[in-house]
Amino acid sequence: MMQLRTLNENIEKHYGRPDLGTLILAALSKAVKDLDNLTAEDLAPIDEFHIRGRQATMELAHILDLNADMHILDIGCGIGGPSRLIAHEFGYRVTGIDLTDEYCRAASMIAERLGISHLVSYRQSDALSLPFADGIFDVVWAQHAAMNIPDKAPLYREAHRLLKRGGALAIYDVLSGPGGLIILPVPWASSSETNFTSSPEEMRNLLERSVSK
Ligand SMILES: C[S@@+](CC[C@H](N)C(=O)[O-])C[C@H]1O[C@@H](n2cnc3c(N)ncnc32)[C@H](O)[C@@H]1O
Repeated sequence: MMQLRTLNENIEKHYGRPDLGTLILAALSKAVKDLDNLTAEDLAPIDEFHIRGRQATMELAHILDLNADMHILDIGCGIGGPSRLIAHEFGYRVTGIDLTDEYCRAASMIAERLGISHLVSYRQSDALSLPFADGIFDVVWAQHAAMNIPDKAPLYREAHRLLKRGGALAIYDVLSGPGGLIILPVPWASSSETNFTSSPEEMRNLLERSVSK
């Protein structure tokens, strides 16, 4: 199996762009009339890194039937599009973590600019070992993140550890089907070095094992 350090470097190489937050805000200042009145909507075309973008995020949020007192952990939060959307639409409090440091920095800059830092916060962390106490989140949420993670057992164990009793794990992933090997590149992987889709059976087994101890 690939060394964890090499893997994490490959992920950061695939996603990272120096000074991304500044680049995004500079591009937005040209595209929208008034940066001081920026809305989550203005960022919609660029900030959801998963298939079907905002529509998929809204569907996931509706399935969960949450209430505004809940605290959500978004694993592999990217530049924070999904967390900003659900915070903005429903008032949820979301903590996002991502391996790509530049994404966390950009997400924090954008949240500050939108004036929603009281609802969303971001922290660079590896999903396989998260810096939070047991049982503190109502929902652990992960969209298109596990596809970058070869060893998913610790990912789901961490999710289970961090959930309150009766909490929900919300996953939206691409899984491998019977059609053979995936044709690369795809948005989450330029090469096989960062692509680790699992089959539905593998995923079900891993999830069952993560709660069986
Ligand atoms: C396809 S993007 C999805 C981003 C976001 N969930 C969204 O839907 O907009 C996958 C994200 O997972 C992050 N990621 C990959 N491996 C990770 C790990 N081990 N721990 C935390 N984040 C990870 C990447 O840095 C990237 O931001």
